[in-house]
Amino acid sequence: MICFLDLGTSKVSGLLIDDLSNSTVHAFSSIETSGVKKGSIINISATASSISECLRDIENQSGFKIKEVLVSISGEEVSSTNSIGQAAISEREVSARDIENALNMSSTMKIPNDKTLLYAMPNNYFIDGQGDISDPLGMNGIKLEARSHLIHCSKNTKDNIKKCIKVSSSVIGIRKYFYSQLGVAQSVLTENQKKLGVCLLDIGAGTTDISVYQNGSITFSKVLPYSGDYITETIASALDIQSIEAEIIKKKYGCAFSDYINDEMLKISLKNGKKSISRKALSELIENSMSKILRHCMNCLEENNLFNYIPAGIVITGGSANMEGMVKLGEKLTNLKVKIGIPKYNLPQKSDNLLKPENSAILGITKFYALEQDKEFTFNQSKGIIARVLEWIRTEL
Ligand SMILES: Nc1ncnc2c1ncn2[C@@H]1O[C@H](COP(=O)(O)OP(=O)(O)OP(=O)(O)O)[C@@H](O)[C@H]1O
Ligand SMILES: [Mg+2]
Repeated sequence: MICFLDLGTSKVSGLLIDDLSNSTVHAFSSIETSGVKKGSIINISATASSISECLRDIENQSGFKIKEVLVSISGEEVSSTNSIGQAAISEREVSARDIENALNMSSTMKIPNDKTLLYAMPNNYFIDGQGDISDPLGMNGIKLEARSHLIHCSKNTKDNIKKCIKVSSSVIGIRKYFYSQLGVAQSVLTENQKKLGVCLLDIGAGTTDISVYQNGSITFSKVLPYSGDYITETIASALDIQSIEAEIIKKKYGCAFSDYINDEMLKISLKNGKKSISRKALSELIENSMSKILRHCMNCLEENNLFNYIPAGIVITGGSANMEGMVKLGEKLTNLKVKIGIPKYNLPQKSDNLLKPENSAILGITKFYALEQDKEFTFNQSKGIIARVLEWIRTEL
């Protein structure tokens, strides 16, 4: 059994699957949290209590005792960069060790003291300047170049997660950390979109995670600290109501494209009595704040010279993708094809009732991890052959 946790700003999700190769969901839980803001932990005990509730729920559903978790995260302090590492091909034919050397070189770059590597995503390889090789093992050449996408997070992030897990249970360890967006891509993007060039937006509660895939690989990622909570706060302050009330109104009546909405008046019950709100005005507020978020994303793409290289358009997922009118607003602002990303691909069995945009990360990370394990297995096997050959040479000597 393998247990995954996704730490979002609004909720902690947990998923238990039985096996990586042909996985089936054995338990799922999603628990609201108030300990995370903009993807970063701001309150250890609140986050730990949500994690422990989530894990207890999973244990109760499955009857399985969890000893280890794999954690996916995002956060405004997550940053990324592309990097190149070179290694000499020792025997004129690329070995597993040469690949390892080139990958290690690509991931050892100078970063600020307070940052640490969250994930190194090997993208492709070049041999003597000839490129876009996905698996160079056994190919001939002199110089191997590994191109990776490196994702860094603050050291505090990992330390705080460790603390939360420790407070929530003294017996549970963390096997691995992931950047949640890598999971999202597995569950909502097709291979064809990734090959053509596509922008993926995960608009959650606290962060909007942007990534771009080109030629099948991730070439850009960035986390913006504005998302669904920003829209809720805008509504709360404009209507002078509590955030909790604004959140309910947003989900029930909200629309991101105000042209869709006629001017009906909504009678809303609030803690301090009733209030009349124009649905059109509500929708204009939402359209304004969602437009700001989307414009930030487009500026990011333009600054990085990516806007003209995403012919497959934009795929929007995360809880805020449930908002009516998102496609229309996205298309109006960007003039690109916009789709809502509902988890559809690479899913574990028995996940039919989980196929919502807010579950893209936790569902996709299972496949992401399975692929990584597969690669590591092949890699270790080829290293095994080298080790055996070396042993054979030594015994012959
Ligand atoms: N029907 C809906 N209409 C509008 N917004 C919605 C709807 N359903 C959910 N949301 C918004 O989605 C957000 C939660 O999304 P999600 O669960 O993906 O976030 P998260 O993973 O907890 O946070 P993050 O990834 O930003 O750290 C909340 O802001 C919520 O208001
Ligand atoms: Mg999220």
